Amino acid sequence: MPRVAQLYFRTAIAFLIIGISMGLHMAIAGDHSAIGAHAHANLLGWVTMAIFGGYHALNPAKAERRLAMIQYAVYTAGVALLVPALYVMLTGNPSLEPVVAVASLIIFAGVLLFAVIIFSSETTVARPTTVGG
Ligand code: HEM
Repeated sequence: MPRVAQLYFRTAIAFLIIGISMGLHMAIAGDHSAIGAHAHANLLGWVTMAIFGGYHALNPAKAERRLAMIQYAVYTAGVALLVPALYVMLTGNPSLEPVVAVASLIIFAGVLLFAVIIFSSETTVARPTTVGG
C-alpha cells in the first residue's frame, strides 16, 4: 500500500477512537453538547480520511506524487485543529470560534487539493502499439 494511504488509514482510526470516545462520554454523561465535535471527528476524520486513503490505495501512481503528501498534511492539520477547538467551543468556550473558522478553511483547502488530485490525469505506462490494425 502507498505510504500516504497507510498514513491516512492510521490517522483515520485515531480519529474514530477519539470520535467514539466522545460519543460514549456524551451518552454516559447525558450531556450531548459536544455532538458537533463527535460528528466531525467521525465524519471528517474516520470516514473521509478512509475514503482518501482508499483512493490512494487504488491509484498508487497518484499516491507517489508530492501533492498527495501535501494534501494529507493540509487536510490532517485542519481536522486535528478543528476537532479539539470545536469540542472546547461547544462545551462552554465560545471564544474558540475564530480557531474553528480557521480550521474549517484549512480543511476546505485540503478538500480542494484532493479535487485537484482526483481530476489530474494518471501517469500512464506506454502501451505497445499494435501493428497491422
Ligand atoms: C460507540 C460509538 C458511538 C457512540 C456511543 C455515539 C454517540 C452519539 C451520541 C450520544 C450522539 C448525540 C445524539 C443526540 O444528541 O441527538 C451522537 C450523534 C451523532 N453521531 Fe455518534 N456515536 C458513535 C459513533 C458514531 C460514528 C461512527 C459516527 C459516524 C461515522 C457518528 C456520527 C454521529 C452524528 C453525525 C451525530 C449527529 C446526529 C444528529 O445530529 O442527528 N457516531 N452520537
